[in-house]
Amino acid sequence: MRLLSFSLLFVALLAGSVSARFSDFEAFKNKFNLQENLGTLSIYHEPYFTGLSTAFPESCEIRQVHVLQRHGSRNPASDDGLSSAIKLVEMQERLLNGSLPINYTIPNNPFRFIKSWVPVIDIRNTDQLSSMGRVELFEMGREVFIRYRELFDADVYDINTAAQKRVVESAEWYSYGMFGDEMANKTKFTYLAEDESPGSNSLSNYNSCPVYYENNIDLKEVNEASHTWGNSFLPSIINRLFPYFSNYNLTVEDVETFFYLCAYELTLKDESDFCSLFNPSDIMNFEYTYDVKNSLYGGPSSKWVNVLGGPYIHNLANSLHSVYNESDHQKVFLAFTHDAQIIPVESALGFFPDITPEHPLPVTHNPYTYSMKTSSFVPFAGNLITELFQCQDQKYYVRHLVNQQVFPLTDCGYGPSNSSDGMCELSAYLNSPVRYNSTHNGTDIFNAACKAKPANVTLHY
Ligand SMILES: *[C@@H]1O[C@H](CO)[C@@H](O)[C@H](O)[C@H]1NC(C)=O
Ligand SMILES: *[C@@H]1O[C@H](CO)[C@@H](O)[C@H](O)[C@H]1NC(C)=O
Ligand SMILES: *[C@@H]1O[C@H](CO)[C@@H](O)[C@H](O)[C@H]1NC(C)=O
Ligand SMILES: *[C@@H]1O[C@H](CO)[C@@H](O)[C@H](O)[C@H]1NC(C)=O
Ligand SMILES: *[C@@H]1O[C@H](CO)[C@@H](O)[C@H](O)[C@H]1NC(C)=O
Ligand SMILES: *[C@@H]1O[C@H](CO)[C@@H](O)[C@H](O)[C@H]1NC(C)=O
Ligand SMILES: *[C@@H]1O[C@H](CO)[C@@H](O)[C@H](O)[C@H]1NC(C)=O
Ligand SMILES: *[C@@H]1O[C@H](CO)[C@@H](O)[C@H](O)[C@H]1NC(C)=O
Ligand SMILES: *[C@@H]1O[C@H](CO)[C@@H](O)[C@H](O)[C@H]1NC(C)=O
Repeated sequence: MRLLSFSLLFVALLAGSVSARFSDFEAFKNKFNLQENLGTLSIYHEPYFTGLSTAFPESCEIRQVHVLQRHGSRNPASDDGLSSAIKLVEMQERLLNGSLPINYTIPNNPFRFIKSWVPVIDIRNTDQLSSMGRVELFEMGREVFIRYRELFDADVYDINTAAQKRVVESAEWYSYGMFGDEMANKTKFTYLAEDESPGSNSLSNYNSCPVYYENNIDLKEVNEASHTWGNSFLPSIINRLFPYFSNYNLTVEDVETFFYLCAYELTLKDESDFCSLFNPSDIMNFEYTYDVKNSLYGGPSSKWVNVLGGPYIHNLANSLHSVYNESDHQKVFLAFTHDAQIIPVESALGFFPDITPEHPLPVTHNPYTYSMKTSSFVPFAGNLITELFQCQDQKYYVRHLVNQQVFPLTDCGYGPSNSSDGMCELSAYLNSPVRYNSTHNGTDIFNAACKAKPANVTLHY
């Protein structure tokens, strides 16, 4: 429903937009979906992998499922720089009160919609889930419950959640999707503070790593890269849009803010005239900003990536390994968090081998083909699912799904089909040099490098 109504909208935008120029990306005309290219503000969607079947492999039985789940679509946040709620509301006011003076006498001024525009961003909803976010999480919980139904044989399920309200509410909607009105007594929530106190058990790894957090590690690189990249693609958009104002020189910040208004209006009311200010290559360049920043901040271009991703992977490895222990029966492992937690985990699992501290994403041009698209990996409601199967050969196999599509793991051999199907035999998975340090020692590595507080709860992820 959502995608259909949006693509109709986008066709309308293509037809009606005066400023749209598609020379760079003619080929995207038919398949480009704006809502799927907004970086971490993208709508939930499947990533563009190789199309491996998501069915349970023949002659294999599911034994465990692990979910690492981002919160759903949300309102603007309080602490998000130029895209924070207060900045966006200020821009709404400037557009309405004429301090950003639009020249309405220019025929077909793409800003003419402002005359009848009703802003949707409300400061009172800062940091909260949007209604779409609630639907996304409810639906996700329902789908996971149906797919893994045979694993749901316990009386009570542990829910580990980062303590911020929108993450907790996401975990609650998800639980309603799984259990309906039995939710309250089928779940046991553990809330992990987003500060130093949970130590290595955090679902907010930056905050619980004092050395990283207190020294602002990676931040200088992130700011420089985003500045350089912005200066390379934003000036042409400014040149295109500034003639539509009267005696006003549009700034880089103004244009970025229009982009955020486009993204958040889509999130909050499923459509936005601000999006028609941009063409597909503009959007893909904005998208690239998220990828540059997230790859540097604790992502695959950061020297800290294995430290930050280590504890989750170590806990995951211990839980996978517990399948060998007859008396250990937990089969469903659920954790709720933020995008910035999931990227380091996926990086430390070896998902983004083309991006390293020695070979970061370039900041002078958008290479378009690279692994770590935040749009694909951590859109709103994005998730990493780890499946553990036991197959006819009696061996155990691991498979990862990203947003419900099989991730093509290739570093640890083929599955029982002896083809590249994304399945890795468990001990090969745990011992692959790509993630050996994390699976065997991720917690100690984190504790040593971070000088982390001792973890005071025993959690399974
Ligand atoms: C318009 O709104 C902006 C942002 O709130 C404010 O700074 C400015 O003073 C307002 N201008 C007028 C003319 O009201
Ligand atoms: C769950 O809650 C219902 C209603 O509050 C109660 O009747 C039932 O005994 C509870 N079940 C368990 C397993 O606690
Ligand atoms: C762990 O420590 C934090 C901070 O001291 C505290 O808020 C929390 O309740 C503790 N958790 C447990 C399970 O003891
Ligand atoms: C507004 O646009 C009209 C039509 O292009 C132009 O003649 C006029 O000079 C513009 N006004 C200002 C203040 O820029
Ligand atoms: C816009 O920038 C140009 C070039 O820097 C400058 O000459 C002009 O005075 C500026 N206009 C306004 C309204 O600030
Ligand atoms: C097996 O699981 C039980 C229950 O969780 C635990 O007490 C025991 O230490 C585990 N044994 C091994 C070898 O890990
Ligand atoms: C797996 O396939 C390779 C060729 O792709 C073949 O050499 C090998 O013998 C096969 N292994 C098994 C166990 O069938
Ligand atoms: C694993 O840790 C060892 C010892 O600290 C280090 O020498 C090695 O480079 C690490 N391997 C990877 C893939 O990071
Ligand atoms: C695990 O990591 C710690 C901290 O970096 C290190 O001191 C220790 O030697 C490592 N252990 C193994 C078995 O690699």
